[in-house]
Amino acid sequence: KARTAPGSNIAGAWEALREEAMGCTRCDLYKHATQVVFGEGPVDAKLMFVGEQPGDQEDQAGRPFVGPAGQVFDRAVAQAGIDRAEVYVTNAVKHFKFEQRGPRRIHAKPGTGEIEACRWWIGQERALVKPQVTVALGATAARSLLGRAVTIGRERSKPIPLPDGGEGWITVHPSYLLRLPDKVQAEEEFARFVEDLRMAAARVS
Ligand code: URA
Repeated sequence: KARTAPGSNIAGAWEALREEAMGCTRCDLYKHATQVVFGEGPVDAKLMFVGEQPGDQEDQAGRPFVGPAGQVFDRAVAQAGIDRAEVYVTNAVKHFKFEQRGPRRIHAKPGTGEIEACRWWIGQERALVKPQVTVALGATAARSLLGRAVTIGRERSKPIPLPDGGEGWITVHPSYLLRLPDKVQAEEEFARFVEDLRMAAARVS
């Protein structure tokens, strides 16, 4: 696929989309989050990653995957031989959902209503970027991508044809790896995650 020059129609349309997203009120999450965390990366990327939703740090930075889960993601992507600068990274839900506990903002799982409301943006991003392969990180991303409930264990690590002609690929969310208490299991699961990313990237021509 030819690189899309900055200023091209697609880049312009993406900028306009991002601007529009900044004022999103499709669900109630905008009321408490700091800002919309929109996707980022080349608009002609062949590989797209979809996370769950911004975390505390992403909410403040305005960028996806820059906090603890982002560090795991970066490490895995690098080990899989993928250059993060070449891929498009976004989230199924674009506002941070949390519960305030004293000074701390604790991550809260997005509900199906929020995922559904935000699916519109993913649809727009996908229509512009047209990735060959889209990797869903975890169940929320998988639900958003496929429009149905997904059991990760059953559907991970294999290509899934998407209605728009692209290919989906399902794997775990990097936060899952952070939560594993057993060090050996965590290392095994990390290696499996890296292998998923490597296999997904190998599908790109
Ligand atoms: N987790 C996600 O799913 N996305 C982010 O951007 C950060 C953490």
